[in-house]
Amino acid sequence: MIIAIDGPAASGKGTVAKRIAAHYGLPHLDTGALYRAVARDTVARGDDLTDPAVAAAAAGHLDVDTLDDPALRTAGVGEAASIVARHGEVRAVLLEYQRRFAKNPAGAVIDGRDIGTVICPDADVKLFVTASSEERAHRRYLELRESGIRISEDEVLADIRNRDARDRTREASPLRQAEDAALLDTTNLDIDAAFRAAIDLIEAAMGQAGQAG
Ligand code: DC
Repeated sequence: MIIAIDGPAASGKGTVAKRIAAHYGLPHLDTGALYRAVARDTVARGDDLTDPAVAAAAAGHLDVDTLDDPALRTAGVGEAASIVARHGEVRAVLLEYQRRFAKNPAGAVIDGRDIGTVICPDADVKLFVTASSEERAHRRYLELRESGIRISEDEVLADIRNRDARDRTREASPLRQAEDAALLDTTNLDIDAAFRAAIDLIEAAMGQAGQAG
């Protein structure tokens, strides 16, 4: 079973995806970490994030064993990731790794921006997880404050809006809800409620597929 989960930054998709993967005993791929790692490596080499060829070369040399590097989680790397993610050349290199991951015989849970639309258009279940930009900014603000970073909630909201605009309006594989994806709005849900709602949507989608087959 392949479960594709897309949505904007701080929508809760990553946490929901991890819990869904544990629930069904499936491997989980956080594809945002791939773009973050490419951005980290491009910056570390002193290269220009806006240059498609050098960013694609970094993607080609990516060591996927470094995807749990805590340095990938900073706001700066998230911002840089959304710059390298605009390049079709980078996306083409990372597409192969993501498709190979999806070929796992038992299936996989994969989250990102273009999983249901481009990477796994034939996924068994597609979820589009979202929340209002104010709520997403509030969550990110609390996380940043928790980790000792001083920033105003207005600044976080401006960053979130900026990143949304970049991810939604780029030419290469923009963030959008696939036509056959179920929408999960987590604005008024805590993480347990979001997880339960996701499981209900997955079970409903699998039930329908079973009836159709
Ligand atoms: O989900 P995240 O915040 O870790 O993603 C970081 C950036 O990577 C995000 O701004 C857009 C990009 N991204 C993408 O373009 N396609 C994906 N499948 C995943 C992430």
